[in-house]
Amino acid sequence: MESFRNRLDKNRIPKHVAVIMDGNGRWAEKHGRARVFGHENGVESVRSVVEGAGEIGIKHLTLYAFSTENWERPKPEVEALMELLVHAIDNESELLMKNNVRLTTIGDLSKMPLKVKERLDRCIRFLNNNTGLNLILALSYSSKWEIINAVKNIVNETIDGNVKLEMINDKLFEKYLNTAETPDPELLIRTSGEFRISNFLLWQIAYSELYFTEKLWPDFRKEDLFEAIFDFQNRERRFGKTSEQLTM
Ligand code: FPP
Repeated sequence: MESFRNRLDKNRIPKHVAVIMDGNGRWAEKHGRARVFGHENGVESVRSVVEGAGEIGIKHLTLYAFSTENWERPKPEVEALMELLVHAIDNESELLMKNNVRLTTIGDLSKMPLKVKERLDRCIRFLNNNTGLNLILALSYSSKWEIINAVKNIVNETIDGNVKLEMINDKLFEKYLNTAETPDPELLIRTSGEFRISNFLLWQIAYSELYFTEKLWPDFRKEDLFEAIFDFQNRERRFGKTSEQLTM
């Protein structure tokens, strides 16, 4: 079977793809190992998918690396994930540079350990002038947190008189989200056979195509990304209109 990559329409590559990387724990269990082993192998998938996304010209790739709810996991697992992040940033930054990747984050970074924040800041600055793929890591992120935060900031601006009630619409609201600089994802992928959104980009996925795969995240590779995009390209996106209206 020909690779999905060769079957893609180069003119209709989504600008923004978001991924809920799920199934690391189950993958580790399947291999009779501790959950952390799954997360470690998940980094390999991150590397492959970032590379693949850059190769086909995706502009923005958002990865749900750590949710607000993930802080509730057993302390050793949280600590191991934070260590893994530090190592991944340290080990991958040269490769990201070589691939012209820029790094940004969304989420409540104030909750992240100082060590992670420092490494992230350094890596973001290091990659700042790159012009290829924008890799967006969602860290200590939850969509409800993001939306509440936006509401609070808009209310404050309203009290200060900078925003008038009649100015509030979806365009203005979006400016107060963490994703203000990024177009909405056309495609959202979730691995591991779960059919949930788990508090991820609730506002931004209003018209996204959703793609679910049984594959566990540590088994997911760039070819699986290409397959998801191939599937996406064979869908009709109507944005609430009829098929006839789209061909007019
Ligand atoms: C979900 O699997 C995965 C996570 C909560 C963490 C994702 C982190 C990585 C892939 C590694 C580090 C990331 C980067 C960006 C370098 P799960 O533990 O919920 O799996 P389960 O549902 O099978 O228990």
